[in-house]
Amino acid sequence: MADNFTFIIDGTEIPARQGQTILKAADEAGIYIPRLCNKDGLEPYGACRVCTVLVNGRPQSACTQPAQPGIIVENDTEELTEMRKQLIEMLFVEGNHFCMFCEKSGNCELQALGYRLGIAAPRFPFMFPQRELDATHPEVFVDRNRCILCGRCVRASRDQDGKNVFQFTGRGIKKRISVNATSRLADTELKSADKAVAACPVGSILKKGVGYAVPIGERIYDHKPIGSDIESKAK
Ligand code: SF4
Ligand code: FES
Repeated sequence: MADNFTFIIDGTEIPARQGQTILKAADEAGIYIPRLCNKDGLEPYGACRVCTVLVNGRPQSACTQPAQPGIIVENDTEELTEMRKQLIEMLFVEGNHFCMFCEKSGNCELQALGYRLGIAAPRFPFMFPQRELDATHPEVFVDRNRCILCGRCVRASRDQDGKNVFQFTGRGIKKRISVNATSRLADTELKSADKAVAACPVGSILKKGVGYAVPIGERIYDHKPIGSDIESKAK
Protein backbone atom coordinates (compact mmCIF):
# COMPACT_ATOMS: atom_id res chain seq x y z
CA MET A 1 0.00 0.00 0.00
CA ALA A 2 1.24 3.51 -0.79
CA ASP A 3 2.42 5.49 2.25
CA ASN A 4 0.20 8.42 1.33
CA PHE A 5 -3.24 8.05 -0.20
CA THR A 6 -6.70 9.52 -0.15
CA PHE A 7 -10.16 8.36 0.78
CA ILE A 8 -13.62 9.90 0.91
CA ILE A 9 -15.60 11.11 3.94
CA ASP A 10 -19.10 12.38 3.19
CA GLY A 11 -18.14 13.15 -0.41
CA THR A 12 -14.88 14.97 0.44
CA GLU A 13 -11.54 13.50 -0.59
CA ILE A 14 -9.07 13.64 2.30
CA PRO A 15 -5.41 12.65 2.61
CA ALA A 16 -4.19 9.89 4.91
CA ARG A 17 -0.99 8.06 5.76
CA GLN A 18 -0.48 4.36 6.13
CA GLY A 19 -1.23 3.29 9.70
CA GLN A 20 -3.55 6.21 10.42
CA THR A 21 -7.01 5.48 11.71
CA ILE A 22 -10.03 6.96 9.94
CA LEU A 23 -10.61 9.17 12.98
CA LYS A 24 -7.05 10.53 13.01
CA ALA A 25 -7.08 11.28 9.28
CA ALA A 26 -10.47 12.98 9.65
CA ASP A 27 -9.15 15.09 12.55
CA GLU A 28 -6.23 16.29 10.45
CA ALA A 29 -8.58 17.16 7.60
CA GLY A 30 -10.84 19.19 9.92
CA ILE A 31 -13.71 16.69 9.91
CA TYR A 32 -15.13 15.93 13.34
CA ILE A 33 -16.22 12.39 14.06
CA PRO A 34 -17.91 12.28 17.50
CA ARG A 35 -16.04 10.15 20.05
CA LEU A 36 -15.90 9.50 23.79
CA CYS A 37 -13.50 6.71 24.72
CA ASN A 38 -10.86 7.95 22.29
CA LYS A 39 -8.34 10.55 23.43
CA ASP A 40 -5.26 11.84 21.65
CA GLY A 41 -2.16 10.14 23.04
CA LEU A 42 -4.02 7.09 24.34
CA GLU A 43 -4.19 3.74 22.59
CA PRO A 44 -7.55 3.39 20.79
CA TYR A 45 -9.96 1.21 22.74
CA GLY A 46 -13.10 0.94 20.62
CA ALA A 47 -15.49 0.71 23.57
CA CYS A 48 -18.12 3.45 23.30
CA ARG A 49 -19.00 3.06 19.58
CA VAL A 50 -19.91 6.76 19.39
CA CYS A 51 -17.38 7.11 16.55
CA THR A 52 -19.14 4.49 14.42
CA VAL A 53 -19.09 5.39 10.72
CA LEU A 54 -20.08 3.43 7.63
CA VAL A 55 -17.08 2.20 5.66
CA ASN A 56 -18.16 1.08 2.21
CA GLY A 57 -21.59 0.62 3.78
CA ARG A 58 -20.46 -1.38 6.85
CA PRO A 59 -20.39 -0.01 10.42
CA GLN A 60 -16.88 0.36 11.87
CA SER A 61 -15.45 2.31 14.80
CA ALA A 62 -13.43 5.14 13.25
CA CYS A 63 -11.01 5.27 16.20
CA THR A 64 -9.74 1.74 15.60
CA GLN A 65 -10.33 1.20 11.87
CA PRO A 66 -7.26 1.97 9.71
CA ALA A 67 -7.83 4.27 6.76
CA GLN A 68 -7.45 2.52 3.39
CA PRO A 69 -7.00 3.96 -0.10
CA GLY A 70 -10.27 4.80 -1.82
CA ILE A 71 -12.68 3.75 0.93
CA ILE A 72 -16.01 5.58 1.08
CA VAL A 73 -16.82 6.69 4.62
CA GLU A 74 -20.16 8.09 5.78
CA ASN A 75 -20.04 10.11 9.00
CA ASP A 76 -22.50 13.00 9.07
CA THR A 77 -25.78 11.27 8.21
CA GLU A 78 -29.19 11.26 9.88
CA GLU A 79 -28.95 7.54 10.63
CA LEU A 80 -25.54 7.79 12.30
CA THR A 81 -26.57 10.86 14.27
CA GLU A 82 -29.62 8.97 15.53
CA MET A 83 -27.46 5.97 16.51
CA ARG A 84 -25.04 8.26 18.37
CA LYS A 85 -27.91 10.01 20.12
CA GLN A 86 -29.21 6.67 21.36
CA LEU A 87 -25.77 5.68 22.68
CA ILE A 88 -25.40 8.99 24.53
CA GLU A 89 -28.94 8.78 25.90
CA MET A 90 -28.24 5.27 27.18
CA LEU A 91 -25.11 6.53 28.97
CA PHE A 92 -27.17 9.27 30.62
CA VAL A 93 -29.86 6.91 31.94
CA GLU A 94 -27.45 4.14 32.92
CA GLY A 95 -25.58 6.36 35.42
CA ASN A 96 -26.54 9.23 37.71
CA HIS A 97 -25.65 12.41 35.81
CA PHE A 98 -26.94 15.56 37.48
CA CYS A 99 -25.24 18.05 35.18
CA MET A 100 -26.53 21.17 36.87
CA PHE A 101 -24.77 20.22 40.10
CA CYS A 102 -21.60 18.77 38.58
CA GLU A 103 -18.25 20.56 38.77
CA LYS A 104 -17.45 19.23 35.28
CA SER A 105 -20.47 20.94 33.69
CA GLY A 106 -19.32 22.93 30.66
CA ASN A 107 -16.10 20.90 30.49
CA CYS A 108 -17.79 17.50 30.19
CA GLU A 109 -17.56 15.62 26.89
CA LEU A 110 -20.72 13.59 27.55
CA GLN A 111 -22.78 16.71 28.25
CA ALA A 112 -21.21 18.52 25.28
CA LEU A 113 -22.06 15.64 22.96
CA GLY A 114 -25.62 15.71 24.27
CA TYR A 115 -25.84 19.38 23.30
CA ARG A 116 -24.11 18.88 19.95
CA LEU A 117 -26.43 16.03 19.01
CA GLY A 118 -29.52 17.95 20.11
CA ILE A 119 -30.57 15.72 23.01
CA ALA A 120 -33.16 17.53 25.15
CA ALA A 121 -34.00 14.57 27.42
CA PRO A 122 -33.28 10.84 27.15
CA ARG A 123 -36.11 8.72 25.72
CA PHE A 124 -35.21 5.76 27.94
CA PRO A 125 -36.17 5.28 31.60
CA PHE A 126 -33.56 6.33 34.17
CA MET A 127 -32.03 3.40 36.02
CA PHE A 128 -30.81 5.33 39.11
CA PRO A 129 -28.14 2.73 39.99
CA GLN A 130 -26.50 2.59 43.41
CA ARG A 131 -22.84 3.53 42.89
CA GLU A 132 -20.06 4.28 45.34
CA LEU A 133 -18.10 7.48 45.69
CA ASP A 134 -14.50 7.24 46.94
CA ALA A 135 -13.34 10.46 48.59
CA THR A 136 -10.60 8.90 50.72
CA HIS A 137 -7.72 10.40 48.72
CA PRO A 138 -6.50 13.84 49.87
CA GLU A 139 -6.26 15.30 46.34
CA VAL A 140 -8.73 13.43 44.12
CA PHE A 141 -12.11 11.72 44.35
CA VAL A 142 -13.86 9.16 42.17
CA ASP A 143 -17.62 9.40 41.74
CA ARG A 144 -18.72 6.21 40.00
CA ASN A 145 -22.21 7.66 39.47
CA ARG A 146 -20.80 9.61 36.52
CA CYS A 147 -18.45 6.95 35.14
CA ILE A 148 -19.20 5.98 31.54
CA LEU A 149 -16.67 3.11 31.51
CA CYS A 150 -14.63 4.67 28.72
CA GLY A 151 -11.37 3.28 30.10
CA ARG A 152 -9.41 6.47 29.47
CA CYS A 153 -8.18 6.56 33.09
CA VAL A 154 -7.15 2.91 32.85
CA ARG A 155 -5.04 3.49 29.73
CA ALA A 156 -3.60 6.82 30.93
CA SER A 157 -2.59 5.39 34.30
CA ARG A 158 -1.06 2.30 32.72
CA ASP A 159 0.62 3.80 29.63
CA GLN A 160 1.34 7.42 30.58
CA ASP A 161 1.66 7.45 34.38
CA GLY A 162 3.13 3.93 34.61
CA LYS A 163 1.03 3.20 37.69
CA ASN A 164 -1.97 1.01 36.82
CA VAL A 165 -4.07 2.78 39.43
CA PHE A 166 -7.38 2.10 37.65
CA GLN A 167 -8.89 -1.04 36.20
CA PHE A 168 -12.34 -2.45 35.58
CA THR A 169 -13.98 -5.05 37.77
CA GLY A 170 -17.28 -6.89 37.25
CA ARG A 171 -19.16 -7.57 34.03
CA GLY A 172 -22.17 -6.19 32.21
CA ILE A 173 -24.38 -4.01 34.40
CA LYS A 174 -22.05 -4.68 37.37
CA LYS A 175 -18.93 -3.40 35.59
CA ARG A 176 -17.21 -0.67 37.64
CA ILE A 177 -14.04 1.36 37.65
CA SER A 178 -11.82 0.16 40.51
CA VAL A 179 -8.45 1.02 41.98
CA ASN A 180 -5.45 -1.23 42.40
CA ALA A 181 -5.39 -0.93 46.18
CA THR A 182 -7.63 -3.18 48.22
CA SER A 183 -10.52 -0.76 48.03
CA ARG A 184 -9.56 2.85 48.72
CA LEU A 185 -8.23 5.46 46.32
CA ALA A 186 -6.16 6.81 49.24
CA ASP A 187 -4.09 3.61 49.24
CA THR A 188 -3.01 3.99 45.60
CA GLU A 189 -0.07 5.94 44.19
CA LEU A 190 -2.41 8.37 42.42
CA LYS A 191 -1.41 12.06 42.35
CA SER A 192 -3.66 14.90 41.22
CA ALA A 193 -1.19 15.78 38.44
CA ASP A 194 -1.43 12.28 36.94
CA LYS A 195 -2.57 12.00 33.33
CA ALA A 196 -5.24 9.55 34.49
CA VAL A 197 -7.03 12.33 36.37
CA ALA A 198 -7.05 14.67 33.37
CA ALA A 199 -8.12 11.85 31.03
CA CYS A 200 -11.63 11.48 32.47
CA PRO A 201 -14.11 12.97 29.96
CA VAL A 202 -16.83 13.39 32.60
CA GLY A 203 -16.95 14.35 36.26
CA SER A 204 -16.09 10.90 37.56
CA ILE A 205 -12.47 11.62 38.52
CA LEU A 206 -12.09 15.14 39.88
CA LYS A 207 -9.44 17.06 41.77
CA LYS A 208 -10.36 18.30 45.20
CA GLY A 209 -9.89 21.93 46.19
CA VAL A 210 -10.25 23.48 42.74
CA GLY A 211 -14.03 23.39 42.32
CA TYR A 212 -15.49 26.19 40.23
CA ALA A 213 -12.08 27.84 39.67
CA VAL A 214 -13.49 28.57 36.19
CA PRO A 215 -17.05 29.88 36.57
CA ILE A 216 -19.98 28.23 34.80
CA GLY A 217 -20.50 30.08 31.55
CA GLU A 218 -16.77 30.47 30.91
CA ARG A 219 -15.96 26.82 30.33
CA ILE A 220 -14.73 25.16 27.17
CA TYR A 221 -18.09 23.96 25.81
CA ASP A 222 -20.10 26.93 27.11
CA HIS A 223 -19.00 28.87 24.03
CA LYS A 224 -18.17 26.38 21.30
CA PRO A 225 -19.67 22.95 20.59
CA ILE A 226 -17.47 19.93 21.08
CA GLY A 227 -15.54 19.24 17.87
CA SER A 228 -15.22 22.92 16.90
CA ASP A 229 -11.47 22.85 17.49
CA ILE A 230 -11.17 20.06 14.91
CA GLU A 231 -13.59 21.67 12.42
CA SER A 232 -11.67 24.95 12.62
CA LYS A 233 -8.74 23.16 10.93
CA ALA A 234 -10.79 22.58 7.75
CA LYS A 235 -9.38 24.47 4.76
S1 SF4 B 1 -13.56 7.16 35.69
FE1 SF4 B 1 -13.71 8.62 33.93
S2 SF4 B 1 -11.97 8.04 32.60
FE2 SF4 B 1 -12.29 6.34 34.03
S3 SF4 B 1 -13.63 4.88 32.93
FE3 SF4 B 1 -14.95 6.22 34.19
S4 SF4 B 1 -15.53 7.91 32.83
FE4 SF4 B 1 -13.80 6.89 31.86
S1 FES C 1 -14.35 6.73 20.29
FE1 FES C 1 -14.29 5.04 18.95
S2 FES C 1 -15.29 3.47 20.05
FE2 FES C 1 -15.21 5.14 21.47
